[in-house]
Amino acid sequence: MEIKNKKIVVFGGTSGIGLATTLMLSKMNAKHIFAASRNPFKISQTYSNIELVQIDVLDENKLVEFFEQVGNYDILINAATGGERAIGPFMEMNLNGYRNSFKKLWGYTNTIRLGLSKLNKNGCIVLVSGSPARKCKPGQIALASVGGAVEAFSRSLAEEIKPIRINTVSPGIIDTPMLSLVGKEREEFYKNITKNNHIPRAGTAEEVSQAIIFAIQNEFITGTTIDVDGGWLTS
Ligand SMILES: NC(=O)c1ccc[n+]([C@@H]2O[C@H](COP(=O)([O-])OP(=O)(O)OC[C@H]3O[C@@H](n4cnc5c(N)ncnc54)[C@H](OP(=O)(O)O)[C@@H]3O)[C@@H](O)[C@H]2O)c1
Repeated sequence: MEIKNKKIVVFGGTSGIGLATTLMLSKMNAKHIFAASRNPFKISQTYSNIELVQIDVLDENKLVEFFEQVGNYDILINAATGGERAIGPFMEMNLNGYRNSFKKLWGYTNTIRLGLSKLNKNGCIVLVSGSPARKCKPGQIALASVGGAVEAFSRSLAEEIKPIRINTVSPGIIDTPMLSLVGKEREEFYKNITKNNHIPRAGTAEEVSQAIIFAIQNEFITGTTIDVDGGWLTS
C-alpha cells in the first residue's frame, strides 16, 4: 500500500516509536496524519501534514467523537503504552500493577473496535507488542503477558476483519523516552540489558518504524509479527 496521500491515525504518535513513525509517514507525503496521545503538545515543531490530537486511548466516548471527526481513513497505527507497566516477579508483584499493565491491550482493542468502521477496506492496522511476549527475561512477566495477548489478538483478528490487514511489530530494547534514566546511568542500562543479544546495543525508534512502514506497504502480509530486536529471540 502506498503511503502517499493516505489519511493515517497514529495513537502514541507523539513520542518514541510512534513519533518516529509519524515523522517517517510525514516525509513520505502522507496526506494527513493524526498523531494522538494524552499530552501531544510536547511536540513544538509544526508540520503541514501532521495534526496533534489530545486523546486518551482508554476514553471510549472521546474515541467515538474523534473517529467521527476523522471520517474515512486508510491506516491505523497504535503504539501507545496505555499507562504504567509492572516490572518484577509475578509472586511478588502488586496485582493491581499487573492488571494495569493490560491498559496497553485495552487501548489497542478500544481503538480498533471504535475505529474500524471508518477504516478503508483496502487499509491496514499495525500494533506494537514487545520481545518478552515470546522470550521473557527475569522481571518481565507482566510485559510478556500483555505482549502475548497483543500478538494473539492481532493474529486472531486478521480472519475477522479481512480484507483489512493487521500486523504486529515486536521491538526488543529500544532507546526511547519510555526509559527515564539519563546520562551514564542510561548508557549503562542499555549496555547491560543488551549485552547478550547478537546485536549488543539498544535499537532506535527509527529502526522499529521502518518495520511499521514495511507492514503497511507489503500487501501480502497479515496476522503476523515482525521482530525488530537485535536478535533477542535467538540469542
Ligand atoms: N522502548 C522499548 O524498549 C520497547 C520495547 C518493547 C515494546 N515497546 C512498545 O512500543 C510501544 C511504544 O513505546 P515507546 O518506547 O515509543 O514509548 P514512549 O516513548 O513512552 O511513547 C509512548 C506513547 O504512548 C502515548 N500514550 C501512553 N499512554 C497513552 C494513553 N493512555 N492514551 C494515549 N496515548 C498514550 C504517550 O504519550 P502521552 O504520554 O502524551 O499520552 C507516548 O506518545 C509501546 O507499546 C511499548 O510497550 C517499547
